[in-house]
Amino acid sequence: MRVVVIGGSGHVGTYLVPRLVEAGHEVTHVSRSRRTPYQPHAAWKSVQHVMMDRAAEEAAGSFGPRIRSLQPDVVIDMICFTLESACHLVEALRGEVQHFLQCGTIWVHGPSVQVPTTEEQPRRPFGEYGIQKAAIEAYLLNEARRHGLPATILHPGHIVGPGWEPLNPAGHFNPRVFTQLAHGEELALPNLGMETVHHVHADDVAQAFMQAIANRSTALGESFHVVSPAALTLRGYAEAMAAWFSQPARLRFMGWEEWRTTVSEEEANATWDHIAHSPNCSIAKAQRLLDYQPRYSSLQAVYEAVSWLIEHKVVEN
Ligand SMILES: NC(=O)c1ccc[n+]([C@@H]2O[C@H](COP(=O)([O-])OP(=O)(O)OC[C@H]3O[C@@H](n4cnc5c(N)ncnc54)[C@H](OP(=O)(O)O)[C@@H]3O)[C@@H](O)[C@H]2O)c1
Repeated sequence: MRVVVIGGSGHVGTYLVPRLVEAGHEVTHVSRSRRTPYQPHAAWKSVQHVMMDRAAEEAAGSFGPRIRSLQPDVVIDMICFTLESACHLVEALRGEVQHFLQCGTIWVHGPSVQVPTTEEQPRRPFGEYGIQKAAIEAYLLNEARRHGLPATILHPGHIVGPGWEPLNPAGHFNPRVFTQLAHGEELALPNLGMETVHHVHADDVAQAFMQAIANRSTALGESFHVVSPAALTLRGYAEAMAAWFSQPARLRFMGWEEWRTTVSEEEANATWDHIAHSPNCSIAKAQRLLDYQPRYSSLQAVYEAVSWLIEHKVVEN
Protein backbone atom coordinates (compact mmCIF):
# COMPACT_ATOMS: atom_id res chain seq x y z
CA MET A 1 0.00 0.00 0.00
CA ARG A 2 1.00 3.61 -0.36
CA VAL A 3 1.55 4.79 3.19
CA VAL A 4 2.09 8.45 4.03
CA VAL A 5 3.66 9.05 7.43
CA ILE A 6 3.35 12.61 8.72
CA GLY A 7 6.22 13.27 11.15
CA GLY A 8 8.02 9.95 10.75
CA SER A 9 11.62 10.83 11.65
CA GLY A 10 11.12 11.07 15.42
CA HIS A 11 10.91 8.57 18.28
CA VAL A 12 8.28 6.31 16.74
CA GLY A 13 9.03 6.93 13.07
CA THR A 14 12.64 5.81 13.54
CA TYR A 15 11.21 2.30 14.05
CA LEU A 16 7.94 2.54 12.15
CA VAL A 17 9.20 3.66 8.75
CA PRO A 18 11.70 0.77 8.38
CA ARG A 19 9.00 -1.66 9.52
CA LEU A 20 6.61 -0.33 6.86
CA VAL A 21 9.25 -0.63 4.14
CA GLU A 22 10.18 -4.15 5.25
CA ALA A 23 6.51 -5.13 5.08
CA GLY A 24 6.51 -4.13 1.40
CA HIS A 25 4.68 -0.81 1.60
CA GLU A 26 5.54 2.18 -0.55
CA VAL A 27 6.31 4.86 2.04
CA THR A 28 6.21 8.64 1.76
CA HIS A 29 7.51 10.64 4.69
CA VAL A 30 6.32 14.18 5.32
CA SER A 31 8.38 16.48 7.55
CA ARG A 32 10.25 19.78 7.59
CA SER A 33 13.62 17.97 7.11
CA ARG A 34 14.99 19.47 10.29
CA ARG A 35 15.89 16.18 11.89
CA THR A 36 17.02 12.71 10.97
CA PRO A 37 15.91 9.43 12.58
CA TYR A 38 17.63 8.38 15.81
CA GLN A 39 19.15 5.39 14.03
CA PRO A 40 20.14 4.97 10.41
CA HIS A 41 18.44 2.20 8.44
CA ALA A 42 18.88 1.18 4.81
CA ALA A 43 15.09 1.21 4.41
CA TRP A 44 15.16 5.04 4.33
CA LYS A 45 16.77 4.87 0.88
CA SER A 46 13.49 3.65 -0.57
CA VAL A 47 11.35 6.24 1.24
CA GLN A 48 10.08 9.22 -0.69
CA HIS A 49 10.46 12.42 1.30
CA VAL A 50 8.13 15.37 0.95
CA MET A 51 9.18 18.53 2.74
CA MET A 52 6.28 20.38 4.32
CA ASP A 53 5.76 22.51 7.40
CA ARG A 54 2.39 21.45 8.70
CA ALA A 55 1.78 24.67 10.62
CA ALA A 56 2.50 26.86 7.60
CA GLU A 57 0.51 24.65 5.22
CA GLU A 58 -2.45 24.55 7.59
CA ALA A 59 -2.41 28.32 7.89
CA ALA A 60 -2.59 28.48 4.10
CA GLY A 61 -5.32 25.80 4.03
CA SER A 62 -3.16 23.59 1.83
CA PHE A 63 -1.95 20.86 4.20
CA GLY A 64 -4.88 18.44 3.76
CA PRO A 65 -5.05 18.87 -0.04
CA ARG A 66 -1.28 18.34 -0.31
CA ILE A 67 -1.49 15.10 1.70
CA ARG A 68 -4.43 13.96 -0.45
CA SER A 69 -2.46 14.69 -3.63
CA LEU A 70 0.08 12.06 -2.54
CA GLN A 71 -2.73 9.54 -3.20
CA PRO A 72 -2.22 7.49 -0.06
CA ASP A 73 -4.00 4.26 0.80
CA VAL A 74 -2.99 4.74 4.43
CA VAL A 75 -2.15 7.94 6.32
CA ILE A 76 -0.35 7.81 9.66
CA ASP A 77 -0.54 11.17 11.44
CA MET A 78 2.10 11.27 14.17
CA ILE A 79 1.89 14.98 14.94
CA CYS A 80 -1.66 16.21 15.39
CA PHE A 81 -2.15 18.31 18.52
CA THR A 82 -5.37 20.29 18.02
CA LEU A 83 -8.93 19.47 17.05
CA GLU A 84 -8.78 22.12 14.35
CA SER A 85 -5.75 20.46 12.82
CA ALA A 86 -7.45 17.04 12.87
CA CYS A 87 -10.63 18.42 11.25
CA HIS A 88 -8.62 20.10 8.49
CA LEU A 89 -6.88 16.85 7.53
CA VAL A 90 -9.98 14.66 7.84
CA GLU A 91 -12.00 16.97 5.57
CA ALA A 92 -9.37 16.58 2.87
CA LEU A 93 -9.07 12.80 3.23
CA ARG A 94 -12.72 11.83 3.64
CA GLY A 95 -13.56 9.02 1.21
CA GLU A 96 -9.99 9.05 -0.11
CA VAL A 97 -8.10 6.64 2.18
CA GLN A 98 -8.44 3.04 3.33
CA HIS A 99 -7.06 3.68 6.78
CA PHE A 100 -6.31 6.81 8.79
CA LEU A 101 -4.18 6.25 11.88
CA GLN A 102 -3.56 8.90 14.51
CA CYS A 103 -1.06 9.06 17.32
CA GLY A 104 -2.77 10.09 20.57
CA THR A 105 -1.50 9.82 24.14
CA ILE A 106 -2.53 8.19 27.42
CA TRP A 107 -2.93 11.80 28.65
CA VAL A 108 -6.47 11.59 27.21
CA HIS A 109 -7.13 10.13 30.65
CA GLY A 110 -7.11 12.28 33.74
CA PRO A 111 -6.91 10.80 37.23
CA SER A 112 -7.46 7.03 37.24
CA VAL A 113 -10.49 5.40 38.82
CA GLN A 114 -10.10 1.64 38.46
CA VAL A 115 -6.66 0.48 37.34
CA PRO A 116 -5.36 -0.61 35.02
CA THR A 117 -7.35 1.99 33.09
CA THR A 118 -9.16 0.64 30.05
CA GLU A 119 -10.05 2.52 26.87
CA GLU A 120 -13.70 2.35 27.94
CA GLN A 121 -13.18 4.64 30.97
CA PRO A 122 -14.82 8.06 30.60
CA ARG A 123 -12.25 10.69 29.63
CA ARG A 124 -11.41 13.29 32.31
CA PRO A 125 -8.35 14.97 30.77
CA PHE A 126 -6.62 17.99 32.27
CA GLY A 127 -3.96 20.23 30.77
CA GLU A 128 -4.27 21.65 27.26
CA TYR A 129 -2.33 18.81 25.60
CA GLY A 130 -4.51 16.02 27.04
CA ILE A 131 -7.73 18.01 26.52
CA GLN A 132 -6.94 18.58 22.83
CA LYS A 133 -5.88 14.95 22.31
CA ALA A 134 -9.11 13.73 23.94
CA ALA A 135 -11.13 16.09 21.73
CA ILE A 136 -9.33 14.74 18.64
CA GLU A 137 -10.03 11.17 19.75
CA ALA A 138 -13.72 11.89 20.36
CA TYR A 139 -14.00 13.61 16.98
CA LEU A 140 -12.30 10.77 15.08
CA LEU A 141 -14.31 8.03 16.80
CA ASN A 142 -17.52 9.91 16.08
CA GLU A 143 -16.55 10.37 12.43
CA ALA A 144 -15.64 6.69 12.22
CA ARG A 145 -18.79 5.38 13.83
CA ARG A 146 -21.32 7.77 12.27
CA HIS A 147 -19.76 8.53 8.93
CA GLY A 148 -17.45 5.60 8.23
CA LEU A 149 -14.13 7.43 8.48
CA PRO A 150 -11.61 4.54 8.62
CA ALA A 151 -9.84 5.89 11.71
CA THR A 152 -7.79 4.24 14.43
CA ILE A 153 -6.15 6.07 17.34
CA LEU A 154 -3.16 4.69 19.21
CA HIS A 155 -2.32 6.14 22.64
CA PRO A 156 1.33 5.65 23.63
CA GLY A 157 2.70 6.01 27.15
CA HIS A 158 6.08 7.66 27.89
CA ILE A 159 8.08 6.75 24.80
CA VAL A 160 11.53 5.32 25.49
CA GLY A 161 14.42 4.25 23.29
CA PRO A 162 18.13 4.72 22.69
CA GLY A 163 18.95 8.29 21.68
CA TRP A 164 17.02 10.43 24.14
CA GLU A 165 16.44 10.80 27.89
CA PRO A 166 13.72 8.55 29.29
CA LEU A 167 11.31 9.72 31.96
CA ASN A 168 13.32 9.06 35.14
CA PRO A 169 12.34 7.64 38.57
CA ALA A 170 11.77 11.16 39.93
CA GLY A 171 9.17 11.77 37.22
CA HIS A 172 11.19 14.25 35.14
CA PHE A 173 13.80 14.08 32.39
CA ASN A 174 17.09 15.18 33.99
CA PRO A 175 19.44 12.22 33.35
CA ARG A 176 21.46 13.18 36.43
CA VAL A 177 18.93 11.12 38.46
CA PHE A 178 20.32 7.95 36.83
CA THR A 179 23.89 9.00 37.72
CA GLN A 180 22.83 9.55 41.35
CA LEU A 181 21.40 6.02 41.48
CA ALA A 182 24.49 4.62 39.71
CA HIS A 183 26.74 6.21 42.34
CA GLY A 184 24.62 5.04 45.28
CA GLU A 185 23.79 8.67 46.13
CA GLU A 186 20.63 9.61 47.94
CA LEU A 187 17.65 10.38 45.75
CA ALA A 188 14.65 12.30 47.03
CA LEU A 189 11.24 11.27 45.69
CA PRO A 190 7.96 13.12 46.10
CA ASN A 191 5.37 11.83 48.55
CA LEU A 192 5.68 8.09 49.20
CA GLY A 193 7.05 7.30 45.76
CA MET A 194 3.92 5.28 45.06
CA GLU A 195 2.67 7.35 42.15
CA THR A 196 3.03 5.64 38.79
CA VAL A 197 4.53 6.13 35.35
CA HIS A 198 3.87 4.02 32.27
CA HIS A 199 6.60 3.74 29.66
CA VAL A 200 6.64 2.06 26.27
CA HIS A 201 9.53 1.32 23.93
CA ALA A 202 9.31 3.27 20.66
CA ASP A 203 9.62 0.04 18.69
CA ASP A 204 6.59 -1.37 20.51
CA VAL A 205 4.63 1.73 19.47
CA ALA A 206 5.77 1.07 15.90
CA GLN A 207 4.67 -2.55 16.28
CA ALA A 208 1.20 -1.39 17.37
CA PHE A 209 0.84 0.79 14.25
CA MET A 210 1.85 -2.20 12.09
CA GLN A 211 -0.62 -4.44 13.90
CA ALA A 212 -3.41 -1.89 13.49
CA ILE A 213 -2.77 -1.77 9.73
CA ALA A 214 -2.62 -5.57 9.54
CA ASN A 215 -5.80 -5.95 11.60
CA ARG A 216 -7.72 -3.16 9.90
CA SER A 217 -11.19 -4.63 10.34
CA THR A 218 -10.90 -4.79 14.14
CA ALA A 219 -8.91 -1.55 14.40
CA LEU A 220 -11.38 0.72 12.59
CA GLY A 221 -13.34 3.08 14.80
CA GLU A 222 -11.31 2.12 17.87
CA SER A 223 -8.64 3.60 20.11
CA PHE A 224 -5.98 1.56 21.88
CA HIS A 225 -3.49 2.11 24.68
CA VAL A 226 0.05 1.34 23.57
CA VAL A 227 2.15 0.91 26.68
CA SER A 228 4.39 -1.71 28.26
CA PRO A 229 2.67 -4.63 30.02
CA ALA A 230 2.84 -2.85 33.41
CA ALA A 231 3.29 0.61 34.93
CA LEU A 232 5.98 1.34 37.55
CA THR A 233 5.79 3.13 40.87
CA LEU A 234 8.47 5.82 41.19
CA ARG A 235 9.87 4.02 44.23
CA GLY A 236 9.95 0.62 42.51
CA TYR A 237 11.50 2.19 39.42
CA ALA A 238 14.24 3.87 41.50
CA GLU A 239 14.96 0.63 43.38
CA ALA A 240 15.16 -1.39 40.17
CA MET A 241 17.51 1.12 38.56
CA ALA A 242 19.77 1.19 41.62
CA ALA A 243 19.87 -2.64 41.59
CA TRP A 244 20.72 -2.55 37.86
CA PHE A 245 23.72 -0.38 38.78
CA SER A 246 24.54 -2.88 41.62
CA GLN A 247 23.90 -0.21 44.22
CA PRO A 248 21.55 -0.02 47.18
CA ALA A 249 18.71 2.45 46.63
CA ARG A 250 19.15 5.31 49.08
CA LEU A 251 15.74 6.90 48.82
CA ARG A 252 14.30 9.74 50.83
CA PHE A 253 10.65 10.74 50.70
CA MET A 254 9.33 14.29 51.02
CA GLY A 255 5.94 15.90 50.80
CA TRP A 256 5.31 17.57 47.44
CA GLU A 257 5.75 21.18 48.61
CA GLU A 258 9.14 20.43 50.14
CA TRP A 259 10.29 18.14 47.32
CA ARG A 260 9.54 20.69 44.60
CA THR A 261 12.04 23.12 46.15
CA THR A 262 14.82 20.54 45.67
CA VAL A 263 14.58 20.58 41.87
CA SER A 264 14.34 23.18 39.11
CA GLU A 265 10.97 24.63 38.18
CA GLU A 266 11.06 22.76 34.86
CA GLU A 267 11.72 19.45 36.63
CA ALA A 268 9.01 20.12 39.23
CA ASN A 269 6.49 20.91 36.48
CA ALA A 270 7.37 17.71 34.58
CA THR A 271 7.10 15.60 37.74
CA TRP A 272 3.81 17.19 38.71
CA ASP A 273 2.38 16.50 35.27
CA HIS A 274 3.41 12.84 35.54
CA ILE A 275 2.35 12.14 39.12
CA ALA A 276 -0.91 14.05 38.80
CA HIS A 277 -1.75 11.67 35.95
CA SER A 278 -0.13 8.58 37.54
CA PRO A 279 -1.00 6.52 34.49
CA ASN A 280 -1.55 2.79 34.72
CA CYS A 281 -3.14 1.63 31.49
CA SER A 282 -4.38 -1.72 30.28
CA ILE A 283 -3.13 -3.23 27.03
CA ALA A 284 -5.77 -6.00 27.05
CA LYS A 285 -7.76 -4.42 24.21
CA ALA A 286 -4.72 -4.04 21.95
CA GLN A 287 -3.63 -7.57 22.77
CA ARG A 288 -7.08 -8.97 22.00
CA LEU A 289 -7.94 -7.02 18.85
CA LEU A 290 -4.53 -6.22 17.35
CA ASP A 291 -2.40 -9.06 18.74
CA TYR A 292 -0.11 -6.35 20.17
CA GLN A 293 2.72 -8.16 21.96
CA PRO A 294 5.16 -5.62 23.45
CA ARG A 295 8.74 -6.88 23.37
CA TYR A 296 9.86 -4.66 26.24
CA SER A 297 8.79 -4.29 29.84
CA SER A 298 9.08 -0.71 31.13
CA LEU A 299 12.38 -1.53 32.84
CA GLN A 300 13.83 -3.32 29.80
CA ALA A 301 13.02 -0.27 27.67
CA VAL A 302 14.63 2.08 30.20
CA TYR A 303 17.73 -0.14 30.59
CA GLU A 304 18.27 0.09 26.84
CA ALA A 305 17.83 3.87 26.85
CA VAL A 306 20.13 4.35 29.85
CA SER A 307 22.78 2.05 28.32
CA TRP A 308 22.83 4.44 25.37
CA LEU A 309 23.14 7.43 27.74
CA ILE A 310 26.08 5.72 29.48
CA GLU A 311 27.79 4.98 26.14
CA HIS A 312 27.35 8.62 25.18
CA LYS A 313 28.60 9.83 28.58
CA VAL A 314 25.34 11.53 29.52
CA VAL A 315 25.00 9.21 32.52
CA GLU A 316 28.06 8.18 34.56
CA ASN A 317 28.15 4.75 36.12
N1 LIG B 1 7.19 11.49 23.40
C1 LIG B 1 6.36 10.84 24.19
O1 LIG B 1 6.75 10.31 25.24
C2 LIG B 1 4.91 10.71 23.78
C3 LIG B 1 4.03 10.07 24.67
C4 LIG B 1 2.71 9.88 24.27
C5 LIG B 1 2.30 10.31 23.04
N2 LIG B 1 3.16 10.94 22.22
C6 LIG B 1 2.68 11.37 20.91
O2 LIG B 1 3.59 10.94 19.94
C7 LIG B 1 3.50 11.81 18.81
C8 LIG B 1 4.86 12.26 18.41
O3 LIG B 1 5.58 11.14 17.95
P1 LIG B 1 7.14 11.08 18.14
O4 LIG B 1 7.44 11.22 19.61
O5 LIG B 1 7.62 9.90 17.39
O6 LIG B 1 7.55 12.41 17.38
P2 LIG B 1 8.81 13.31 17.58
O7 LIG B 1 9.98 12.50 18.04
O8 LIG B 1 8.41 14.53 18.35
O9 LIG B 1 9.09 13.74 16.05
C9 LIG B 1 8.25 14.64 15.39
C10 LIG B 1 8.25 14.37 13.90
O10 LIG B 1 7.40 15.31 13.26
C11 LIG B 1 8.15 16.15 12.36
N3 LIG B 1 7.58 17.50 12.52
C12 LIG B 1 7.56 18.25 13.65
N4 LIG B 1 6.94 19.42 13.41
C13 LIG B 1 6.54 19.41 12.10
C14 LIG B 1 5.85 20.33 11.27
N5 LIG B 1 5.42 21.53 11.72
N6 LIG B 1 5.62 19.98 9.98
C15 LIG B 1 6.04 18.79 9.49
N7 LIG B 1 6.70 17.87 10.25
C16 LIG B 1 6.95 18.18 11.54
C17 LIG B 1 9.59 16.01 12.82
O11 LIG B 1 10.51 16.20 11.78
P3 LIG B 1 11.08 17.71 11.43
O12 LIG B 1 11.44 18.34 12.75
O13 LIG B 1 12.25 17.44 10.54
O14 LIG B 1 9.96 18.41 10.74
C18 LIG B 1 9.59 14.51 13.22
O15 LIG B 1 9.61 13.70 12.07
C19 LIG B 1 2.61 12.96 19.22
O16 LIG B 1 1.34 12.77 18.68
C20 LIG B 1 2.60 12.87 20.72
O17 LIG B 1 1.42 13.42 21.26
C21 LIG B 1 4.47 11.15 22.55
